[in-house]
Amino acid sequence: GEDDSIPIHGEEDFVAMRKAGRLAAELLDYITPYVVPGARTGDLDEMCDAFTKQRGGISAPMGYRGYPRATCMSINHVVCHGIPGDKKLEEGDIVNIDVTPTLDGWHGDASRMFNIGERVSLKARKLVDVTYECLMLGIEQVKPGATLGDVAHAIQKHAEDAGFSVVRDFCGHGTGKVFHCQPSVLHYGAAGEGVVLEKGMIFTIEPMINAGKYDVKVLSDGWTAVTKDKSLSAQFEHTLGVTETGAEVFTLSPKGYERPPYNIIP
Ligand code: MF3
Ligand code: CO
Ligand code: CO
Repeated sequence: GEDDSIPIHGEEDFVAMRKAGRLAAELLDYITPYVVPGARTGDLDEMCDAFTKQRGGISAPMGYRGYPRATCMSINHVVCHGIPGDKKLEEGDIVNIDVTPTLDGWHGDASRMFNIGERVSLKARKLVDVTYECLMLGIEQVKPGATLGDVAHAIQKHAEDAGFSVVRDFCGHGTGKVFHCQPSVLHYGAAGEGVVLEKGMIFTIEPMINAGKYDVKVLSDGWTAVTKDKSLSAQFEHTLGVTETGAEVFTLSPKGYERPPYNIIP
C-alpha cells in the first residue's frame, strides 16, 4: 500500500537530498566548536535553529509529534531524543547531537557524538569509536542487491565483538519529503534477510550502541530514552541514497568533522 511501500527516488530527488544533507552536515560542523564544558544544551539548540533558518531551512523536529525543540541532545546514558534545556555539558560527558533541517521540504538527518573536555573515560571513548565504526560498516554494505539484514548484521557483529549491545527499540528509517517513512532500518539482524536494496532508495542508518544491556526506557516527558541499566550509550547517523554501485552519503562533514576528536579549524 501507499504507506508501507519504499519510495524509489530519481536524480532530481538526489539533487535535493544533497542540498538538505549538506545543510545538516554544515549545521553539525557549525555547532562543533561550541560543544564544550559549561555549554547549556538549550543555548546550543537555539544556535542550531538560528543557523538553519539563516540558511533558508526549517528544523523538522520542532513540533514533530509535539517535540518541543529544534534538535535532540542525548548525554551519557541517554540513548536518543534528549530534549535540550537548562542542562549544561560537563567535563567527561559524551553527548550526541541529532539535527534534521529541511531544505525545500527535503530532510537531512544526521547526528554525531562529542567528547566533552579532555577527561572522557577510555571506556566511553571506545564506545564512541566503535559506534562510529558500526555506522560506517553498515554503510559499506549498501548497494543494489544487498539486504538491510546485511547492514544490520555488520553493525551488530562489530558492536557485540567489542562487548557492547545494539538498541532494539529505535531504528533508522526511510526519509526524503517525509521525515520518517519505509524502510525501517534495524541495526541488529541476520545477513541476507530483509528488504533487498534498490537504486533510488533513501534512508538513514543510525545505530544506538550501549556499553551495557540493550534495554531502554522512555522518561515521563514522553521523549527522553535512557538505558535501563544506566550504562553509557552512543549514536552516529547519516542519511544516504542507494546508487548503481553503492551508497551516496548526503550528510558527510565538509570540514571533515566525522568523528571525535574534532580538530577545530576556525
Ligand atoms: N532525528 C531523529 C531521527 O534520527 C528524530 C528526532 S524526532 C524528534 O530520526 F521529534 F525527537 F525530534
Ligand atoms: Co533519523
Ligand atoms: Co536524526
